[in-house]
Amino acid sequence: MTEPYDPAGEGAQMSFKGRMSYSDYLELEKVLNAQSPLSSAHDEMLFIIQHQTSELWMKLALHEMRAAIGAIRADRLDLSFKMLARVARIFEQLNSAWDVLRTMTPSEYTQFRDALGQSSGFQSWQYRAIEFLAGNRNLAMLGPHQHRPDLMEKLEGILAEPSLYDEAILLLGRSGFDIGADAARTDWRGTRAENEAVLAAWQAVYRDPQRHWMLYDLAEKLVDFEDYFRRWRFNHVTTVERVIGMKRGTGGTGGASYLKKMLEVVLFPELWKVRTVL
Ligand code: HEM
Repeated sequence: MTEPYDPAGEGAQMSFKGRMSYSDYLELEKVLNAQSPLSSAHDEMLFIIQHQTSELWMKLALHEMRAAIGAIRADRLDLSFKMLARVARIFEQLNSAWDVLRTMTPSEYTQFRDALGQSSGFQSWQYRAIEFLAGNRNLAMLGPHQHRPDLMEKLEGILAEPSLYDEAILLLGRSGFDIGADAARTDWRGTRAENEAVLAAWQAVYRDPQRHWMLYDLAEKLVDFEDYFRRWRFNHVTTVERVIGMKRGTGGTGGASYLKKMLEVVLFPELWKVRTVL
């Protein structure tokens, strides 16, 4: 009989006394001990892990978006492309994750829903940070974070600087295009007004991609990101309707009706409009 294979024979490290191991490096003690179901319902673990993993992916999306914004500001579009492509893929990955959550039926969710109290993804500060960084700056969404000065500082820090889309528009300006009122902006905090000059600039880019290749590529990367982000929102509302129907959300909104309204949000308006005028 052959002996079971021992990888130590080919040099696999088998003793970690006094050495950094995989668990040490990844701080798995913290990560794997951060699931504390409040009920005895079997499916609560799925619900918690689904949210936690989504938040981890959002953390990476924020890391990439911040770096992409810096790269565009520094005229390093080549660097920003890689990061923006990664953000789109992160959302694609989050989209697939809904398939796991969809295995939870309304009967199963009802068993622990009351334990959530008023907590809801509506209070996800990282989700708001992604929206704010992208350019959707609805200041009303700061409300649930006002009791946390540390989070307000992070969110206000993002609002004080140009968004990803603002940076793309400023780049259009640096590239010689007229960007109208966007050229005079100094306050980045609120919602940006759409502007015909920016539409005309994107139109010129899309009419002659060869001449404006980098701007064209950037525009398509942004549309790609928004496309996947929209799919995430659509998958969310469909899952929500499947699990709670038209019940109100734990966060207090109308539930699926609120989320359907959010499907109308447009991050990069002129980039969608330009399709109609080509
Ligand atoms: C069965 C699963 C889920 C249900 C029933 C559900 C339900 C809801 C509802 C009803 C809202 C509207 C706010 C409210 O009144 O509560 C909401 C918002 C939100 N949820 Fe979920 N959700 C689920 C899973 C998830 C997951 C896995 C995530 C990932 C992090 C998530 C993230 C969010 C976010 C970010 C919002 C705010 C959206 C916005 O304001 O545009 N949800 N959810």
